[in-house]
Amino acid sequence: MNRNGLLVEMKNINKWFGGVCALKDVNFSVGYDEIVGLLGYNGAGKSTLIKILSGFYPPDSGAIYFEKKERHFTSPRDARDLGIETIYQEAAMIPKMSVLRNIFVARELCKADMGVVRYMDIPRMENESTKALDGVDLRLRSPHALVDELSGGQRQGVAIARAMYFKSKLVILDEPTNNLSVKESAKVLQFIRELKNQGISSIFISHNLYHVYPVADRIVVLSHGSKIGDFKKEDTSIDEITKLMILP
Ligand SMILES: Nc1ncnc2c1ncn2[C@@H]1O[C@H](COP(=O)(O)OP(=O)(O)OP(=O)(O)O)[C@@H](O)[C@H]1O
Ligand SMILES: [Mg+2]
Repeated sequence: MNRNGLLVEMKNINKWFGGVCALKDVNFSVGYDEIVGLLGYNGAGKSTLIKILSGFYPPDSGAIYFEKKERHFTSPRDARDLGIETIYQEAAMIPKMSVLRNIFVARELCKADMGVVRYMDIPRMENESTKALDGVDLRLRSPHALVDELSGGQRQGVAIARAMYFKSKLVILDEPTNNLSVKESAKVLQFIRELKNQGISSIFISHNLYHVYPVADRIVVLSHGSKIGDFKKEDTSIDEITKLMILP
């Protein structure tokens, strides 16, 4: 695969909700092997931007390129089939199902050639989910544990293991460190670094600069639906971004 240039390019994206302009002419990109921190206060347009990238909503205008081809997603499935995996803090998992079932949800492994009825291959999923979880150094009691019983950080870990297992190319994490303890947040940052080590790019959304700064290669700041900053980390500082973020 040709990994020159950009993995994602969103050009001149506009999105309105009724009379509210959620995004105004936003240009946003993600490189290969890049961790992009997407920052901005409540209502800045962060979730709207990544929902457009993950096929949730179409933009009102603008273009999306993924792996250098223009894409017109009609559903989240379209984006996922291309390797764009989105992890939401709450909705990422089905709490009353096991870790194993959550890893394979909607992509269950079936026994080959069982006629019309397809049976799920539980032993194979068990085996494979253990392998997937080993990839993120997540020590769980068993893949049969209910997601309900996991901490917020562990849930993020399972979602990331799932993204690695299915060989996603881009993982989008919307506020993954919200409501997590310092220790659990640190673990999530480690998962994000591990994604990068495996050649998977990510977008890490947060309103907290201090969560994003340690891992991000590039930092993009949105405010009131417009992009007001886009820096490689080596070209900026915590001070500069803080000043940008406190502008009215
Ligand atoms: N489905 C929707 N219907 C109507 N308005 C919406 C919808 N989604 C977002 N908006 C509005 O668009 C703007 C941007 O919202 P968005 O959720 O993208 O912000 P955000 O940066 O993710 O904020 P937060 O940090 O609170 O998650 C806000 O004014 C919001 O009220
Ligand atoms: Mg949001």
